[in-house]
Amino acid sequence: MRAALLSDPSSPLELVDDLDLADPRPGEVCVAVSHSGICHSDLTIIEGGYMVPAVLGHEAAGVVAGVGDGVSHVSEGDKVMITPLAPCGHCDGCARQQASRCTQAMSFVAGTRPDASSPFSRRGRLVHRGLGVGAFAEHTVVPASGVVRLDDDVPLEVACLIGCAVQTGVGAVLNTASVERGATVVVTGLGGVGISAVQGARIAGASRIIASDPVESRRQAALRLGATDAVGADPAELKAAVADATRGRGADYAFETAGVPGLASLGVEITGSGGTTVVVGAPPPEHTTDIGSTTVFMIQQKRLVGSLLGDCWPSRDIPLLVGLWQRGELDLESMITARLPLEGINEGFNRLRKAQGVRTVIEISPS
Ligand SMILES: NC(=O)c1ccc[n+]([C@@H]2O[C@H](COP(=O)([O-])OP(=O)(O)OC[C@H]3O[C@@H](n4cnc5c(N)ncnc54)[C@H](O)[C@@H]3O)[C@@H](O)[C@H]2O)c1
Ligand SMILES: [Zn+2]
Ligand SMILES: [Zn+2]
Repeated sequence: MRAALLSDPSSPLELVDDLDLADPRPGEVCVAVSHSGICHSDLTIIEGGYMVPAVLGHEAAGVVAGVGDGVSHVSEGDKVMITPLAPCGHCDGCARQQASRCTQAMSFVAGTRPDASSPFSRRGRLVHRGLGVGAFAEHTVVPASGVVRLDDDVPLEVACLIGCAVQTGVGAVLNTASVERGATVVVTGLGGVGISAVQGARIAGASRIIASDPVESRRQAALRLGATDAVGADPAELKAAVADATRGRGADYAFETAGVPGLASLGVEITGSGGTTVVVGAPPPEHTTDIGSTTVFMIQQKRLVGSLLGDCWPSRDIPLLVGLWQRGELDLESMITARLPLEGINEGFNRLRKAQGVRTVIEISPS
């Protein structure tokens, strides 16, 4: 079948038509991919060469094309959204609904099943299933627990965004931080993830949402979707805006959604007593930051926490996010700023590199 293959990190993705896909095993589902968004985590994998060869694309929706033994919650022809973190459902982590503590779910990082196999191969050689999904291909095979059935009237184009950007950004605000009504929130980095965090903060009823990004068009998008204030990436400018909005007390929450480690320490600085900084961005692991004196975590009781896929539990949170969209509280349509065919995938990544628009969606076999 056709797919965009990462075979050499220094070259563009290669369009191939001879990718092999295994039948779904027991507990797996084969999905005909309809739409797949381009997330910065895919770009980080390309540039770091962490997973080669691989089919990337982990923000996807499609139609069930086949199910393995024991799968009963979806059947052929169902519209579904795919989530990268597919919990096993019976380990200690799953008992607490924490996918990051589930070995099956966390195998997404390696781009293989927990047993190191992959449903993808080419010319007899293993091809990684990028970040648990592998959706820059006509079909993929994923664990059934990573597939959530959608109502027939939910367009697959908007549903795909929930797969990564939306559950990550909105979930970081509603699940990880539990932002309360009236809080002051800072979001640094306004791509698909940051814009989703801005929308999450609006839904939570934050009184001030200060959005920061060097790119003017992204600041404008944030203002349209819920930010009350927007500033560039100059830390001094951001500090002044936060001091002004909070009468010098500091923000209640800061979300680092750019993938710039220094923004985590800046978050700790600009949050006030009892404030929480949430690290959502995923820079290459060798990029580090100095968080300065840790006394603030004690005397001022500041908190610095991480968030993976917004702490979402698929069967609980995906329907909730779809419901927010159905009620008009979550604007997903405005986040899609470009649509390209699979052949345009490298142009899509170039748009991401240049921070053009908010999200580019690859139309694979739109239905
Ligand atoms: N935690 C998770 O589960 C999770 C899930 C998805 C994505 N991510 C990560 O989240 C980050 C954002 O992803 P995305 O797809 O929205 O990326 P994106 O490239 O579309 O957006 C990043 C934005 O950050 C801005 N930026 C860069 N430097 C900045 C600075 N100093 N201050 C403020 N803004 C700055 C850029 O201009 C850009 O608009 C990436 O690191 C990605 O890997 C994490
Ligand atoms: Zn992602
Ligand atoms: Zn588990």
